[in-house]
Amino acid sequence: MMGAVLSDVVGVLICPVCSAGLEPRGGSLGCVNGHRFDIARQGYVNLLTGAPHTGTADTPEMVRAREAFLSAGHFAPLAEAVADAVPYGPGLVVDAGAGTGYYLAEVLDRRPEAAGLALDVSKHALRRAARAHERAGAVVWDVWRPLPIRDGAATAVINVFAPRNGPEFRRVLGPGGVLVVVTPTPGHLRELVGRLGLLSVDERKEARTAAALSGFAPRRRRLTEFPVRLARADVAAVVLMGPSAWHVDPGRLGEDVAALPEPLEVTASFHVSEYVPESGGVPQTGGVPESGRVPDSG
Ligand SMILES: C[S@@+](CC[C@H](N)C(=O)[O-])C[C@H]1O[C@@H](n2cnc3c(N)ncnc32)[C@H](O)[C@@H]1O
Ligand SMILES: [Zn+2]
Repeated sequence: MMGAVLSDVVGVLICPVCSAGLEPRGGSLGCVNGHRFDIARQGYVNLLTGAPHTGTADTPEMVRAREAFLSAGHFAPLAEAVADAVPYGPGLVVDAGAGTGYYLAEVLDRRPEAAGLALDVSKHALRRAARAHERAGAVVWDVWRPLPIRDGAATAVINVFAPRNGPEFRRVLGPGGVLVVVTPTPGHLRELVGRLGLLSVDERKEARTAAALSGFAPRRRRLTEFPVRLARADVAAVVLMGPSAWHVDPGRLGEDVAALPEPLEVTASFHVSEYVPESGGVPQTGGVPESGRVPDSG
């Protein structure tokens, strides 16, 4: 059975094999050419066919840490800032690299007529995203590939600490559409970086982000900075849900966290940037070659 969730957005999905429209067919989505994709019991659909993905998918441990941290509301002011940046009204909001769907859910809460589509390459994250909001569908997808979404179907694309495929974000945005990108500033979690040996945010990140978004013009950038009081368990979670999770030694992290004062006040610091399509033709559908990919350090 297809959940109500996907039925809100299935009309915008296209078959990743042949680009024909997808329709519900029993417990799966299918196209006229016989390509079929099962809807998982948890309510998401995997449109990635066989080929291995990028290796950057969040692991179950990272998803658990992210869920615990975000559901405690520590980054709620950021979710509000993201929601403020998305145009009001009906339409489709695509969250590219949605994780557990936390930010998408906040956007939809404030837009009773809008629907949402969470894309993420991690099945573990998507299981949560499928339940994040009653008007959000969840599709396993690699955002470096052409998105399985019709041209111009979205009113907004949001991208929070996740890979960005400028040409594809541009293609799926309709007239008046907005791309909202969240990046951490070099001051993000500054109290923890040295103490815990975390990856620091590159000062040039902002320029690299804008350069990678060819086809878009920056419209507005807001600094969203706020203090967060963290217990030791929250400190561990914020490290393990982010890019440092790939680099830190868990034993060492445990010792370093145990030595911290509790609670500890740290600074959360982000840029919420709005981009609009530049005038000119819509680019051809396309994935991004390896050389054009900008790693994310959110
Ligand atoms: C730092 S997390 C951010 C998740 C979510 N936006 C949030 O802030 O809670 C990065 C997310 O991007 C996803 N991701 C990484 N590479 C991806 C790709 N090529 N395509 C789609 N998602 C990807 C990961 O699985 C992970 O959920
Ligand atoms: Zn097909």
